[in-house]
Amino acid sequence: SDYDLLVVGSANADLVIGVERRPAAGETVLGSDLAVHPGGKGANQAVAAARLGARTALLARVGDDAHGRLLLDSQRAAGVDTVGVLVGGAPTGVALITVDPSGDNSIVVSPGANGRLTPADVRAAGSLFRASRVVSTQLEIPLETVVEVVRGLAPGSRFVLNPSPPRPLPAELLAACDPLIVNEHEAKVILGEACVSDVPEDWARTLLSKGLRSVVVTLGAQGSLVASSEGMTRVPSVKVDAVDTTGAGDAFTAALAWRLGAGSSLAEAAAYASRVGAAAVTKRGAQESFPTAAEVASL
Ligand code: RIB
Ligand code: NA
Repeated sequence: SDYDLLVVGSANADLVIGVERRPAAGETVLGSDLAVHPGGKGANQAVAAARLGARTALLARVGDDAHGRLLLDSQRAAGVDTVGVLVGGAPTGVALITVDPSGDNSIVVSPGANGRLTPADVRAAGSLFRASRVVSTQLEIPLETVVEVVRGLAPGSRFVLNPSPPRPLPAELLAACDPLIVNEHEAKVILGEACVSDVPEDWARTLLSKGLRSVVVTLGAQGSLVASSEGMTRVPSVKVDAVDTTGAGDAFTAALAWRLGAGSSLAEAAAYASRVGAAAVTKRGAQESFPTAAEVASL
């Protein structure tokens, strides 16, 4: 393959303000100076993989504006092939992010151009699909576009989905996931009424029974759970002091997808990905906080 990883997904300008606490409805709080970072779950995954050394391409849409140029510059600086980044149709996506002193964030996304990445755009990128070993995506682009990604997969290529922000998913999409990567909240939304337990192993079992090939449940400080027809294992996390968790999940997903394409087992790939995610939370921002392979090795 020409690419270890093709990421199809969103690109957002992240407008970030540090706050002591978030405002309640009708309340105003004062925060830090504004920081503008390149972000978006798709763009973040692509940068994370490329910084680790993966040959990576991004299929996305940005606006013909300053935010779009910020995102393209960040992709190119990381070594991502941006031949699949389409320009125009709406303003670049924006994420309004507050980060509190514990490093936790809350995010409101205006999809903008991400909402105009269409199934036809996916069909027009057939050569990228044929050249890619693994294809990963998220849910900040239209659901019908994600379904078209699954239909466009080349024979033998692997599909990885982080359904964020979560919503109920069609069976066709679920059946293609190898793996589906979910946190607790995402697992519960996707399972809906089928979620009758608080035990991650039960969520994984129920998801596998819907025809998924494999599932990774991320459990924050408790690490992750990996599950497939071959069995289930817990993978421990790496302890670090969190500064800003923004994008750490995207880095985890990208690292996992890349390692799986390189032949690692699910448990090996999750262990490596958890080190990548841990490195990312120790620095501010999303893309700027992602480690190189050497930085992961020295963690
Ligand atoms: O996952 C983190 C990302 O979510 C941020 O970069 C922001 O753009 C939102 O999409
Ligand atoms: Na970070």
